[in-house]
Formats: sequence, structure tokens, C-alpha cells
Amino acid sequence: MPKRTTVHDIWSMKKRGEKIPMLTCYDYTSAKILDEIGVPILLVGDSLGMVVLGHESTLRVTLEMMIHHSQAVSRAAKKAMIVIDLPFATYSSSDLPLSLRTAARAMAEGEAQAVKVEGGRRMAPVVGTLVASGIPVMGHIGLTPQSIHMIGGYRVQGRDEEAANRLILAAQALEKAGAFALVLELVPADLAQKISKMLTIPTIGIGAGPDCDGQVQVFHDAMGMFEDFSPRHAKRYANLAPVIRGAAKQYLDEVRAGTFPGPEHSFGGGEVVKSVYGKPAEEEPADPKKTKP
Ligand code: KIV
Repeated sequence: MPKRTTVHDIWSMKKRGEKIPMLTCYDYTSAKILDEIGVPILLVGDSLGMVVLGHESTLRVTLEMMIHHSQAVSRAAKKAMIVIDLPFATYSSSDLPLSLRTAARAMAEGEAQAVKVEGGRRMAPVVGTLVASGIPVMGHIGLTPQSIHMIGGYRVQGRDEEAANRLILAAQALEKAGAFALVLELVPADLAQKISKMLTIPTIGIGAGPDCDGQVQVFHDAMGMFEDFSPRHAKRYANLAPVIRGAAKQYLDEVRAGTFPGPEHSFGGGEVVKSVYGKPAEEEPADPKKTKP
């Protein structure tokens, strides 16, 4: 059984000055690839509402949706720590029992190892309550998409002195409440550097400059699969949308022309086919009627 990344590993990485990469992940197939190459943290982010489900914001995402996707990730990811976002309005400092029930379901049913909650100082009681129940919590400050209608738009946070101080106080309060790491989203690079130096827990930046202890990117942005908009802080490591378009177009052309399926994708009546799934024949389940005792 491979060893899975723990909060202690994440803390050790910060101590050693080793950068912490995190990627969002929402499905089994991608999780298998990302886990295999050693991504230490996979975030089942509520960004799935936008990049997977096509909503305009993350607000339509429910706990059931988060659990559904987290389970798929968990079936593949055996080494990465799986962090699951608690969705909009399923946790609040004014209802700590609700927050605990939500986080417990997300962890247990979503088979995750930690949860992430959005919000500044007002979220400290939630973090404290969850941590007291043995749930590792990642905080998330700066641009918090679940509060987009309070914030008024997807823009950089903490630009003036007062807003910067608020973020510093929030970071300190969340660390004190027991958060094991903190996402800084759309925060000026110098402020993110200051917060990262100030805290003993790691910061994971997105649009927060190079001096955070780690970085997170939305998978569909990084792979160039989501084309509705391209945030400035997202780097395209691949351009998969045109690749998929080209491959799908070739498929359409071949079906229309009658050149697919060819003989190699078809079965003859008398042919002995060992496996239709491309697995080695030994992996086929043995037919108990044909095996001798
Ligand atoms: O849901 C998400 O993808 C996130 C990241 C942007 C940090 O919260």
C-alpha cells in the first residue's frame, strides 16, 4: 500500500523549503494520472461547478455533488492527500453543528483526508470546531468565490493597507484556530510573501505570486481544456481543447466515411478473443468451469 501524503508531510515540506504543488481534480481518470506522477495534494474544488458542470459561479454546487466527485477521485488516488471543498452555505460560524455535520459527511462519504473552507476571521470558530473533531482544515482567503456577490467581482484582494491588514489578521486567526494550510487567492505577491513568512503553516497560492509555500491551479485551466475565459493567473501547460476538437473531428469524418471501425476494431464470428479491454489475458478472471482442481 503506497504511503499517502499527510498534514505532517505538508508541514515538513514547508520546513525544508520544498514547494508544495496542488491541482484540482474531479474525476477518476485524471486522478489516476495525477496520483501516479506524485501530485501531493488533489483538491476536489467546488470550481467543478464552473469547469465541469458549466455554472456561472460555484454557488450551485451541493454537498452531494462534492461527495460524488470526491469518491471518484478517491477510487484512483492512493498517494495524494484529497482535500474536499465544503460548498456554499453548508458551513457557518453561526451554525457550528451544521458545519461539523457537513465536514463529517464530506470526509467520510467523500473519502477525503481534509476539507477546505472559504473565509477570513469569521471562519475561525468553524476551523476550531472541525479541528477539535479530528478534521484537518485548509483555509482559503483573499478572493473567496463563494462570497462573490459580497465581493462584487473576481478581482485582486488586499490592495490597500486596511484590506491587507484584514488579510494578515485573517491568516493569523485561521492558523491559531488550527488550519493546517491556507490558500491565498488573488492576493498581491508582496502581501502573500509577507503572510507566508509570518505563518508556520504553508500557504498555497493561486494568483498570489511566487513566494507562497505552494501553488494550486485549476486542472482544466492548466490543461487548456476550459475556454470560456482564461484567468491571468492560470498557466496553460497544455492546449488540450484543440487536440480534443481535432481528434473528435477525425472520428466524425471516419464514421461518416465508413472507415471506422476497421477490421482491428471488429470481431469475426469464429475468432477467439482473449480480452476486449486490452488487458493481458492473465488478468482475465479464470473460468471456474475450465480450471482443474
Ligand atoms: O475550487 C477551487 O478550485 C479552489 C481553488 C481555486 C483554490 O478553491
